[in-house]
Formats: sequence, C-alpha cells, structure tokens
Amino acid sequence: MVVAVGAACDPVATGTDASASHRRRVTGRSSPRLSVVNISPRSYSSPTWHALLAVACLVSGFGIATGVRAQDAPPTDGVPQDWPLDDAPALATLAARHGLSIGNAMRDGFQTLDRAELYRRIVSHEFDITTPESSLKWALLRPTEQRYVYAPLDAIVDFAASEGIDLHGHPLVWHRINPPWLDGVAPERIEAVMTDHIAEVVGRYRGRFQVWDVVNEALEDAGPALRSSVFFDAMGERFIDIAHATAHQADPGAELIYNDFGVGWPTAKSEGMFALLERLQARGVPLDGVGFQMHIDHPFAHVEGVSTNLQRAADLGLDVWITEFDVGVQSVDDHDAQAMLYEDILKRCLMQPACRAFQIWGLDDFYSFRPFVDPLPFDDRVQPKPAFFAMRRALSSEPVHLEGCELEGLRVSRGDIVPVAAGGQGARSEASIARCDGVRLGPGYARLSVRYRNAGTLAPSLSVSTAAGEELARVALEPTAATRDGVHRTVTIDTAVRPTGDSTLIVAVEGDPEGADVVGIDALLFESPDGPVGVEGAATPSPSRGGGGATGLAWWLVGLPVPALRRWRVSGPGSRTWPAWQPRHAGYTRLPRSTAPSGPVKE
Ligand code: XIL
Repeated sequence: MVVAVGAACDPVATGTDASASHRRRVTGRSSPRLSVVNISPRSYSSPTWHALLAVACLVSGFGIATGVRAQDAPPTDGVPQDWPLDDAPALATLAARHGLSIGNAMRDGFQTLDRAELYRRIVSHEFDITTPESSLKWALLRPTEQRYVYAPLDAIVDFAASEGIDLHGHPLVWHRINPPWLDGVAPERIEAVMTDHIAEVVGRYRGRFQVWDVVNEALEDAGPALRSSVFFDAMGERFIDIAHATAHQADPGAELIYNDFGVGWPTAKSEGMFALLERLQARGVPLDGVGFQMHIDHPFAHVEGVSTNLQRAADLGLDVWITEFDVGVQSVDDHDAQAMLYEDILKRCLMQPACRAFQIWGLDDFYSFRPFVDPLPFDDRVQPKPAFFAMRRALSSEPVHLEGCELEGLRVSRGDIVPVAAGGQGARSEASIARCDGVRLGPGYARLSVRYRNAGTLAPSLSVSTAAGEELARVALEPTAATRDGVHRTVTIDTAVRPTGDSTLIVAVEGDPEGADVVGIDALLFESPDGPVGVEGAATPSPSRGGGGATGLAWWLVGLPVPALRRWRVSGPGSRTWPAWQPRHAGYTRLPRSTAPSGPVKE
C-alpha cells in the first residue's frame, strides 16, 4: 500500500522521468503512468485522495488474489508422473558405493501435494536420508508450552521407515520459527524449557533419527560472533553445551551436529564457527560433526574453498554433512551452470572422506523455500533438470583418498600426503609412493582431477600408474599461491589411457620438493567427461508466479517488486499459462554415459 501511495505521490505522477527512467533500468520496460493528478501531501484528506486510496487497495487486493492464484501448481497433463526415469542406478545406490548418504528435505503434508505420488516415488527411489523441512520447528511442533503436535512429523517418520530411509532431525534449537509463548518465558526458565523440549522430542524418536542438527544458526548472519537469541541471552554460549548434552542423554546412538549457513567455504563466519567448534570440543561437548547448509547462488566462485573447509572440519576430527544444498539461478539459461555447481560440490564431498552426506533442501522448485531462483534439481512439475543428471554424473565418478593408501616415503598431514624428509629437513626419501588398492575404474574413465598444494618454487611431478606399470597420467605440481579459498588447487587432465576394471594404482611424487610439508596431495578423482549436462529440449521453467501481465503490475503495486521483477527476469514476460510440457530427458537417457557410469553397480 505504501508503495502504491508513494507511486501516486512521487515525481512520476508529475511526469518527470527520473524514476521512470530508473524504473525502465530496473524492469527493462516503462511502467504505465500511474496518475495524471498532481497530488501534494497537503491534500491527503481530500475526497480525491480517498478515492485514490480505494483504487490502490482494490488493485492490490486484485494483485494478491491473482498473485496467489498464479501460485497454483502447474498443470501436469502430458507430464510423466512415473519414476524411476530409466534404468540408471538410483542416486542413493551410486552414493552408497562411496559410503555417502544422499538426501532431501521432506515437505510437511507431502502426502497431499499436487504431485504427491511422483514426489514420494522420487524420494523413496533416489534418496536414503531425509530431513523434515519444517515439522520439528518449535512454532509448528509446540504451539503451546504444554502441547506438542506430532502428526506432520510422524507422517514423515513413518514414510521414511516404510521406505528404509534414514532421518536427519532439524533443528532442536533455533532462533527462528519459534512460538510466541517462548518470548514470554522468564530467562531463568529458558534452560528448563529447552532441555525439556530436547528430552521430549529426541526421547520420543530415540533410535529413529540417525543425526540431529542440535543447534542451528547460533552465529550472527555474517558471524563470527554468536547471535543474540532467547537461548543465548538466557544462558550464553553454554546453551549449546547443554543442548548437546541433553540430546546425547536422550539418544546416545544419534550423531549430533552444529548446523549453519555461510560456513561451507572460508569466510569470517566460518572462522568464528571453527573457533566455536574447538571450544565445544575443549569443553568435552558431545559433538560428532558440522552441517554446512550451502544455500548458494550461481555464479559461485568458492568451490576450492569448500574442499578447504571440509578438510578443516576433518582436521578437527569432525564429519561434515552438506545439509541444505541448493543453487539459485536467474534464468533457465543458467540451468547448465547450476548443474555444474551441483556436480562440482558433490565431487568435492566425494573427495573428502569426512563428508558424510549431501542433502538438497526440498525437492522441486515449486515448493522450494527460495522459489524465485529455481534452486533445486526438479522443476515446478517435479521433472528432472540438468542438475539431477549432474548429481548422477558426480556420483558416478571415482575418488581416491590418498590418506587411505599404503604410503612409502610419504606421510599424512592435514588430509594430504606429503613426502617424508629423509634424515631431517629438505632431503627426500628415495621413493614417495602411495599404493592404492581397489580403485574402481569400471568401464573406464578418461579424466583425472588432482587436488594438491605446493608452497615451493619448483614443480615436482605426480605420476599415476597401474600396478602393471602402465602410466595413466602425469601432472606437474606447479606452485600454488594462497588465496582466500586456501592453498590448494585442483587440476583436471585427460588420462593418457582409459583404465578399466578394479585396479591398484601407484601414485608417485617425483622431483625434489623444497622441504617438509611444502608439497601435499589431497585427493584424486577419476571421471568420464563425456555427455552433455544440459539436455536438448529441456522444458522452459514455469512462467512467473504472479509476475505476468496485469498480475505483474498488481504485484508491483502491492510492494513486492523484487520477487516479481526477479520472476519476470527468470521466466521472462510470459502469460500465466503454463507452456506445454516437452519430454526433456528422452535425449538424455539415450546417452551411453548415464546407463553405465562405472564398474559393477547393477544392484
Ligand atoms: C526454511 C523452510 O524451507 C521454509 O519452508 C520455512 O518457511 C522457513 O525455513 N535454514 C534452515 C532451514 O536451517 O530450516 C530453513 O528452512 C532455511 C534456511
């Protein structure tokens, strides 16, 4: 309303083009002139002003009504409702080969969603862990201090049990989505209210939830300090200790993690988080790991930084869950770039043995908590986007964790293998060799990525050969400069030959490094580069929800310009009719790579 009024009273109304040209810059089109009457603030009591107000209310009312109507789910006529898509292995099957869990966040009331059956089929086929998206949040779970509402949560718990899917609890303690009654609790009672809550909830589901986000987002948005909250203000930082101890007591078998956003790559906030985790460990708090939420947007420039922070957590002896992954994009043209980020981050998780799970936050764009940037691997019709196939491709790659190999003249240092200095500093022992058994090269990989660091000035080389002596690849370990994202670099080369089957690989560091711990190799990753990520005939995403034509204008008027504009940009000025669905994956599944990712995976 303020915007409508403002619009009515701003210079535009008087015909000056400043803001008009400003609006043109923002929207790329000139908005219709809003009024011809020159209204000065003095005349707010005038009948004209009241008439204008009435019109603005009517328009915004219409805007909201149509906007909401535009939120209706897209028609599914002609859209496949069956799953699995093809005979390729499920994501969970591919992930299990790496000891990794792959999951999603389950929407409350999933049973009654527009495409509930397809939703269920995809979740039960593709994932082996799921997180209730909202039903554990206090405002929904505990509307009054004495009353717990478990039905929505139980529906998810029962579904997971019936499909053999693990459960990730989220969150036990959070500063958001809390019920109003909590604000009325005296500070001296907050600790009891919190511990009662945790004991009640974790106790009720003892043995059913494999992992809990005990405390969520305790750091300020940009960190590094802890944020004020009803829990922190009452107990200080020790509310985290108490929450973890209470959860551990209620279910000693469950893993307990701290979860936050903006910490998955080196940031001031992640520094604050690692310092917090070290303090918790020093105080003996039961803590098994950390959750990197990873809500990111394309373009994202910190892929190397993600590996750095994964290792940083591993160096603390903590496992990492990527708990809420999604990638915001501005347009359908970014879907391939989006897919690449899904692939790259998932591969970084595979390269780090301490990375335990990769979980997306939701399933399809329509029900995403960031609907305006289409962040998920399934579109509004719950149809797979390039990002889904990119997850398959990532999980079909083969990481080699060098710290798990048999080492000669090499030792492990912060997750890297580094040449052992023979007889003191500088000199290197005869051979620096890692012998890695059981590397599953399946039908063959033609590309190798090597993540390493070299703080020196020389470039020793790394060779990778089969036990039979066939050299697969040779990489010059050029010096790596320290950046905000760490000291490592990842180089990707085509292998000289296409190794197949299960092999023992010999990884050798040749050439004299300039001292102990100057050169370190973190991990290798074999992959098959072939096949497009983007798929021909990919359906255009759904048009603006509440952004098209008159509705767009109405949205604009009711003061929600950003989302509507974004929507406009993302989906282009379209009518609100949903474009006819085009079979997207037909081309894709016929690509050889999708049906034979690697090795004996036909389960
Ligand atoms: C979001 C849910 O997806 C929305 O449906 C809800 O309205 C708000 O919360 N970080 C978290 C999640 O830890 O719990 C949030 O989930 C998204 C950001």
